[in-house]
Amino acid sequence: MPSREFSAWKAAPLICGLLFLGKVNGEAVSLDHGAYLTIQAESGEILYQKNCARCHTVNFYEDIEVRWHSMSVLDYFYKIRGSMPADNPRSLTDIEYLELVAWVLSVNGYPSGDKPLQAKSYIGLLKFGE
Ligand code: HEC
Repeated sequence: MPSREFSAWKAAPLICGLLFLGKVNGEAVSLDHGAYLTIQAESGEILYQKNCARCHTVNFYEDIEVRWHSMSVLDYFYKIRGSMPADNPRSLTDIEYLELVAWVLSVNGYPSGDKPLQAKSYIGLLKFGE
């Protein structure tokens, strides 16, 4: 016979997990509140000039909210890390790809903040256009 008691404690880890969604060290992280450092975007612009500009104009990176709607910063990071520059994929470091993502965020008008963009799972929660 199944127990009729509802064990609320079993749900506790799930509820705690949900509360931590979108937070790093207890602080909210969102694209609208600054998900990268200005210095990352500045380095990203130099990387763009050197590695991407020969194929893509700056306009190519705009309208990310529409083109990447409901996709996350992590998806974008994986896309460029896995396949760009198209003539020499994976030729940059993870840190450099993150700087490029930071620059793309700045081009799209997302504000910088006081924490660096990092290759951690929370960036999968930072979605475009949501
Ligand atoms: C040799 C030319 C070339 C270079 C250099 C290049 N790309 Fe691309 N890129 C392409 C082509 C072709 C596509 C379309 C095919 C695809 O999506 O894989 C593309 C697609 C993309 C996409 C997906 C477009 C979208 O919004 O769906 C992104 C993002 C991107 N490139 C970023 C970059 C970044 C960042 C760099 C520099 C590190 C870079 N590319 C360098 C040729 C290039």
